[in-house]
Amino acid sequence: MNELYYGDNLEILRNKLKDNTIDLCYIDPPFNSKRNYFQIYNNIGKEDQAQAQAFIDTWTWNVLADHAVQEILTNEGGRYTRQTIELIKGFHAVLGCSGLLAYLVSITQRVNEIQRVLKPTGSFYLHCDPTASHYLKLILDSVFCPRGGDFLNEITWKRTNSHNTAKRYGNVADIILFYAKSENYCWNQQHSTYSQEQRKRYKLDESGRLYTCQDLTASRPDSNSGKFEWRGTMPPASRGWGYTLEQLETWWDEERIVLKKDGRPRMDGLKVYLDEMPGKPLQSIWTDIKRIANTSDERLGYPTQKPEALLERIVQVSTNEGDVILDAYCGCGTTVAVAQRLNRNWIGIDITYQSIAVILKRLEEHFGTTILDTVTLDGIPKDMASAVALANKKDDRLRKEFEKWAVLTYSKNQAVINDKKGADKGVDGVVYIATGKHSTERVIFQVKSGKVKRSDVAVLNSDRLREKAVMGILITLKEPTSAMIQEAVETGVYRHPSFQREYSCVQIVSIRDMINDGKRIDLPLPHHVLKTAVQADMDKQNQLLLDNADADE
Ligand SMILES: C[S@@+](CC[C@H](N)C(=O)[O-])C[C@H]1O[C@@H](n2cnc3c(N)ncnc32)[C@H](O)[C@@H]1O
Repeated sequence: MNELYYGDNLEILRNKLKDNTIDLCYIDPPFNSKRNYFQIYNNIGKEDQAQAQAFIDTWTWNVLADHAVQEILTNEGGRYTRQTIELIKGFHAVLGCSGLLAYLVSITQRVNEIQRVLKPTGSFYLHCDPTASHYLKLILDSVFCPRGGDFLNEITWKRTNSHNTAKRYGNVADIILFYAKSENYCWNQQHSTYSQEQRKRYKLDESGRLYTCQDLTASRPDSNSGKFEWRGTMPPASRGWGYTLEQLETWWDEERIVLKKDGRPRMDGLKVYLDEMPGKPLQSIWTDIKRIANTSDERLGYPTQKPEALLERIVQVSTNEGDVILDAYCGCGTTVAVAQRLNRNWIGIDITYQSIAVILKRLEEHFGTTILDTVTLDGIPKDMASAVALANKKDDRLRKEFEKWAVLTYSKNQAVINDKKGADKGVDGVVYIATGKHSTERVIFQVKSGKVKRSDVAVLNSDRLREKAVMGILITLKEPTSAMIQEAVETGVYRHPSFQREYSCVQIVSIRDMINDGKRIDLPLPHHVLKTAVQADMDKQNQLLLDNADADE
């Protein structure tokens, strides 16, 4: 059974995942590398706290960071190695209570749990970039090495070709740190295909196959082995045949030996065909996996989405079919989708409901609706008490999570969440409905988790008119009053042009309707229209977050 958790990975790792159960863990935690390095290093938590709401890209010193440092320095629960404690002490002395330290201690807590849940044969990959990779490597060393684990590689993934930068070299690569829990880690050697440059070294033979020549002799300075005449040729004094006579004859019969003009075998004449070569064993610099292009089918509009090819490589190298893979920052579910496709079991964790919604949609689209029956969902409100609990969460990182969950759930994961502040303030989400073959209209959502009153309906209606939306849907945690219902009726009706059906311009749905009666949007939502719209909208919203490289290529 595969598991998708909605919540903070630290809580989930600690409360739900058992020791020694995971074969591979890949994480790609958020970090705002696009900010000036000087700022990241020196910003001692003094920047405008309002900015911090976008926790996914800005790390600030806060109460969570404070707790994390305390927990590590006092070795709460005996969780940490001496090296980790000393390291964080040192970071604290050097970096002070800064955004960077907040990020580092948060990762330390989580990686420490990941080490615990990995099987002794397990592997760990941490995806980051050069902004903080040097700090992270120290942390990982302190967590893995004192417990018998090992650092294996610093993989450089060249994710883009060019990057506009003033007065420094273009930053075109990410770093992936690869560790194992013990020396008995799983390793399935993989090969990369040959580049055009390498292929140029191959020649075409009469059968149309590309081949290169390999030496048939080997250095034999002090022995007589391989010192025999074969088909009129004797190897030079310092060398002998590198193969037995029997093997040489087999190749001769298979016409794999290149001949000299006089018909004798060439000593470097063993034909090796390109189509029989596994490729080059993978090295630690990966240049053959491209980032997801703007026009790629794989692209879901999730700004930090990684290509499936990257995860496919990691999964194939470090796991076998049936193994369990964990992604504790699973985003739009690249690891999950690859694990599913390659017959591995998986566990995904993400703190935002948008991510959970995208993953469910991604799985359904790729593997069919029945796949959803094989996924255990955890942390998603299933009753009124848990919905109320989500609405009342005070954690800064969970800002608007209740609203997002409500809009996405009611819209069957089809709405686009509005994260923006500004002109369209008050609109929590938008869904596009199909009104004809090539036409769509907008429907806007507002969510209220507190007291509700008649004027909320009027406000939504005026926002709807301002936003030129045909309908507005008000989702309320508290039951709507009869005055609100009356007000909604008075907003008039929208007549769908092809459905010949009328809808109230403002509709009210309570969380109770959604939870107890399973009420969901009942409007024509053709998938392709939505996918395009969602992508366009998210592209706009995330423009600033997207790596400059997008524009450079
Ligand atoms: C860089 S993205 C991962 C992208 C992913 N590799 C993909 O290809 O889609 C990081 C994700 O970590 C999630 N996240 C951040 N803090 C988290 C936490 N404490 N617990 C769980 N998820 C978290 C964010 O919501 C975001 O979706």
